[in-house]
Amino acid sequence: MERVHFHYEADREILKGVDLSCPAGTYTALVGTSGCGKSTIAGILMGRNRGYSGTITINGQPHSKINESSLMSHVTLVTHNSYLFQGQVADNLRMGKPDATDEELWAVLKKVNLDGFLKSQQGLGTTVQEKGGNFSGGQCQRLAIARALLHDTPMYIFDEATSNIDVESEELIMNVIHELAKTRTVIMISHRLANVVQADRIYMLKDGTVAEQGRHEELMNRNGAYYELYQYQSGMEQYAAEQQEKVVNA
Ligand SMILES: Nc1ncnc2c1ncn2[C@@H]1O[C@H](COP(=O)(O)OP(=O)(O)OP(=O)(O)O)[C@@H](O)[C@H]1O
Ligand SMILES: [Mg+2]
Repeated sequence: MERVHFHYEADREILKGVDLSCPAGTYTALVGTSGCGKSTIAGILMGRNRGYSGTITINGQPHSKINESSLMSHVTLVTHNSYLFQGQVADNLRMGKPDATDEELWAVLKKVNLDGFLKSQQGLGTTVQEKGGNFSGGQCQRLAIARALLHDTPMYIFDEATSNIDVESEELIMNVIHELAKTRTVIMISHRLANVVQADRIYMLKDGTVAEQGRHEELMNRNGAYYELYQYQSGMEQYAAEQQEKVVNA
């Protein structure tokens, strides 16, 4: 995307000329403080936020010329609270691929490590309550990732897809995303910079524009906003780990 401007309300521009390039088959990260416009960019790419100015191309095609339903076959979005509806696990999964066989469903469930749990329940027929009420946060999110994998599009956007879930689920999902990024175009939006260290390119947004961009090492060497945020987060995590250790050893 080039020189993209966007506002929700008149007189309050959110994106003030954003340039982003996510070449096919690369792993791109979008970072920056809360409210800087990361989800807004995801919404634009998904065709939800209309009325931007600037140029966006997806797979060589002008974004503005692709209608919403074919956008869906280009891009899959996974958010932190992906929608699970009341029904069976199989129904929720087949939203991603209506003609998927049971074998395909089990294959993706295995990738997200839900196969064992579901076999102990009613398998693919296990009931999912409204908004996944009978599943843990991590299980819901792993189910949403399984569905996204079935959807199989050239581009994926993960918007805080690992926020507020257990550490094991987060690690597993990050591994699935890294694996996926080997063959698909992946945009990763994450508060936690530790999750974007491996990205081919990291864009740090600030005040509606790209403040810094580059690989993790390049941005660390710049000693700028990314460096400061990374140091701050590492410090916080170190501190939290030490407190945890004190509790365990007490
Ligand atoms: N539907 C909306 N209507 C009006 N303003 C909105 C809307 N959605 C977002 N905004 C505003 O746009 C700005 C960017 O929001 P956005 O959700 O893109 O931020 P973000 O970078 O994803 O933040 P976070 O890290 O907290 O998810 C914020 O100031 C927000 O208040
Ligand atoms: Mg957001």
